[in-house]
Amino acid sequence: MNENELPGTDASLWLETTPSTDFQPLAEDKRVDVAVVGGGIAGLSIAMELTDAGKSVAVLEAKRIASGVTARTTAKVTSQHGLVYDELTSKFGREKARQYADANEAAIEIVADRADRIECDLRRVPAYTFVNDENDRNRVRREVNAARNVGLPASFVERIPQIPAAVAAVRFDDQAQFHPRKYLLGLADEVSHDGCDVFEGTTVTGVTPGSPCEVETARGTVLADDVVLATHFPITDPAGYFARMYPKQSYVVAVRTRDPAPDGMFYRTGTPYFSARSHEIDGESVVLVGGQNHKTGQGGSTTERYRAVEREARNHFDVDEVVFRWSTQDYRSVDGVPFIGPIAPWREHVYVATGFGGWGMTTGVVAGRILAEEIAGTGSEWADVFDPGRLPPLSNATSFVEENTNAGKQFVADWTTKPHATTEPLPPGNARIVRENGSAIAEYRDENDELHRVSAVCTHLKCLVKWNDAEETWDCPCHGSRFDCDGSVLDGPAVRDLPKR
Ligand code: FES
Repeated sequence: MNENELPGTDASLWLETTPSTDFQPLAEDKRVDVAVVGGGIAGLSIAMELTDAGKSVAVLEAKRIASGVTARTTAKVTSQHGLVYDELTSKFGREKARQYADANEAAIEIVADRADRIECDLRRVPAYTFVNDENDRNRVRREVNAARNVGLPASFVERIPQIPAAVAAVRFDDQAQFHPRKYLLGLADEVSHDGCDVFEGTTVTGVTPGSPCEVETARGTVLADDVVLATHFPITDPAGYFARMYPKQSYVVAVRTRDPAPDGMFYRTGTPYFSARSHEIDGESVVLVGGQNHKTGQGGSTTERYRAVEREARNHFDVDEVVFRWSTQDYRSVDGVPFIGPIAPWREHVYVATGFGGWGMTTGVVAGRILAEEIAGTGSEWADVFDPGRLPPLSNATSFVEENTNAGKQFVADWTTKPHATTEPLPPGNARIVRENGSAIAEYRDENDELHRVSAVCTHLKCLVKWNDAEETWDCPCHGSRFDCDGSVLDGPAVRDLPKR
């Protein structure tokens, strides 16, 4: 780890300020109404809705609950997802744009209601999406009109005192920010006392649809009337999700500032985006600054990405010190709207919630409400816009083709690039891909001079992995699978480790 090169503790603030969990693994076969695979905000929100509806539920989490993407968010609970409503209205029509808006506004209220009994540092604050360029003013005005047209509390503002560089912004009132792990540990505690079993350390290896469905794990089989896959990327992919979503990595630094921390949530759209909100730790404020998003495995040095976020933080605020830093990865669908609903028309009773695109603190909660209603058979008034079976709007067909061409190009580039010669010594702290007897090997020599060697061929669809120098992981540039330096899967779609060499 490059601890000496980057300031701040390499850890998520949310994980560092909450206790770890110790739910037991599945110990025997089990029969429930609904099996929920994945214990992040989507999985636990779904479990809460289903237990409220009187269902027996099992949550199956491969590692620890609320420790993946949910623990690495900036935790903005908002219906403002950048400048999206103008685009949603033109691509999907006003009715579906309204469904998206209504669902996300409702999610804020669902979280706020639960926060009345779960202590999670929830605060109601305004959200701003701003631009720095005068040429983008009209875009902001169009967004304000589109958002108001679908019933959102939007207004146009010329200035944001906390962000002097902004020349125009859309402001949404009465949004929220919170501590996501405090919220989710509270949720897990409630559901586990209310007819829901939470199992950690229980990796699901397969799902067979049927009546009942069979959910296989190494520790036993769970039979369930319905199964929900809420695993970031679905663990089974019968409908080509890998080609309809792409992974984005982004970075956060939590900084202590000399000036008062800004009140509100701030976002500058575009690439790279900029995001900021404050949070209090033991009575002292820190500002969480995020940005530098790029496709996983295609962003160059990730250490440089952290440095760029820190520079942005210093440009906007009088930074005293960097306290924490962490990165995250999330999947975005090609049309920008999550997939929530039946995983495929021919897989009855199996549902999916994925593609949150960085806005899972509301869309994960939306998934809970929609899927609980779908499973109850009542249908959801918001289901259409999130329907996983939708065709991408015509205007997104290009981006669908582009994303798949990008993955294809990576594949070809990988296999035609000349590898490093194997005779050169590899210095400590360095990594490379080498060829040996026609095989591609991923080598990393750690700071203790230990050499870690695994196959460099991603176990999903055979692209070559790339080294992530800040996180010390092998990341796949095609569809975003990530592996530790010894080849263990950290993130799908791959489900098999890189073999050791
Ligand atoms: Fe698809 Fe690696 S994630 S080939």
